[in-house]
Amino acid sequence: MLASGRVPTPLIDTYAAAFGETALVATEQGLFEALADGPRDAAGVASEAGTDMRATEKVLNVLTSMRYLRYGRDGRYALTALARRFLLADAPSSVRDLVLMRRLELAWIDRLGEFLRSGDPLDVHGTMTDVDWGLYQRGMHAQAALSASEATRRTPVPKGARDMLDIGGSHGYFSVALCRRHQGLRSTVLDLPQAVEHAAPILAREGMGERVALRAGDALTDDLGTDAYDLVIMWSLVHHFDDPTNRSLVARIARALRPGGVLVIGEAIRPASPARAAQFSSFLDLYFALISEAGTWTFEEMAEWQRAAGLVPRRPIKMVIAQGIGMQAAARPVG
Ligand SMILES: C[S@@+](CC[C@H](N)C(=O)[O-])C[C@H]1O[C@@H](n2cnc3c(N)ncnc32)[C@H](O)[C@@H]1O
Repeated sequence: MLASGRVPTPLIDTYAAAFGETALVATEQGLFEALADGPRDAAGVASEAGTDMRATEKVLNVLTSMRYLRYGRDGRYALTALARRFLLADAPSSVRDLVLMRRLELAWIDRLGEFLRSGDPLDVHGTMTDVDWGLYQRGMHAQAALSASEATRRTPVPKGARDMLDIGGSHGYFSVALCRRHQGLRSTVLDLPQAVEHAAPILAREGMGERVALRAGDALTDDLGTDAYDLVIMWSLVHHFDDPTNRSLVARIARALRPGGVLVIGEAIRPASPARAAQFSSFLDLYFALISEAGTWTFEEMAEWQRAAGLVPRRPIKMVIAQGIGMQAAARPVG
C-alpha cells in the first residue's frame, strides 16, 4: 500500500510534530527523571515532577505508546532501556541536552512560512538570547559526543602534530577527543564570545587544563595567524556561511597552516542531486538556509574552496555513525 502511494501519508507527516512535542515537553518537565529511581504511578510521577496528575497520566500513556515507558499490571510506569540510555541527564550516552535544544529549533522552524515568502534568513547567531545560547551550546555538546569517537579515529592528524585550531568549536569536545588520542597535541577553540560563556563550563568538566583553551572571537574577522597550526578542524560551521565567505575563510586557514598541515571540514553533506537525497539531508539544507544564510555543501564544493586556497584535497570521508555526515580534509603541500 505504501509503495503504491495509497496510504494518506500527509496525515502522518503533518501530525508527527504532535508526538515530538509530547516527548519534548516530558523531557523539559522532568517526567523521565521522575522515573529514574524506579517505577511510579501517575500520581507519583506528577508529585515528583510538580505537574498536574490528570494531564501527567495522559502524557505518560502517549510516552508508553512511543516505547519510552512500559505500563505494568500494578498501574506503575517504568522507563524502557531506550529512555534510560538516551533521555536521563547523567546517562553516559544521554542525548537529553540535544532534545532540549529542539525547543530552540522548533521556534526557528515555526518561521519557515515567512522564510518561504521573503527568502530572508533568521541570523540566529545575531539574535539569540542568553538562555538560547546555553541551550545551543549544551545541545551541540551532546551532538558532538555521538560522533567524536569515529571523527577522532578518522581525522588525518599529521605525524608529530603539536598545535591545532578548532574553529566554531563551541564546547571543544572534538578537540578534547583528539588531544586525548594524540598526546603531543594542544588545541585552541575559537568561537563567538556569547558561545564561549556557555561553552567554558562544559569544557571545564573534561579536565584538559591548558591543552584545550577557549578563545573568544570571530573566525571571519580575527587574525588566524601564519604557519601556526598543524591541524585545523571546523565542524558544523560552513553551513552558516555563503560561498564567497567560505572561500575567503578557507584561504585564511590555508595561510594559518604549517607546511604539511591539514584542514578538516566536518559537515552535514548536501547530496549531489535532490533525486537521491535522504529526507534528513534535504531538510538540513533547508534548515541551515532558514537559520543562517547558506545551507549544506557537497564534498566537491568544499574541495574546490580548498584547491583554490592552494591545499590538496583528500578523498571525502563518509561517516558511519550518521548517514549524510562527512569530513573533507586537505593538506598544505610541503615546500
Ligand atoms: C553548529 S555549532 C557547531 C559547534 C561544534 N563545532 C560542533 O560541531 O559541535 C556552530 C558553532 O559555530 C560558532 N560560530 C558561528 N559563527 C562564528 C564565527 N563567525 N566565528 C566563530 N564561531 C562562530 C557558533 O557560535 C557555534 O558554536
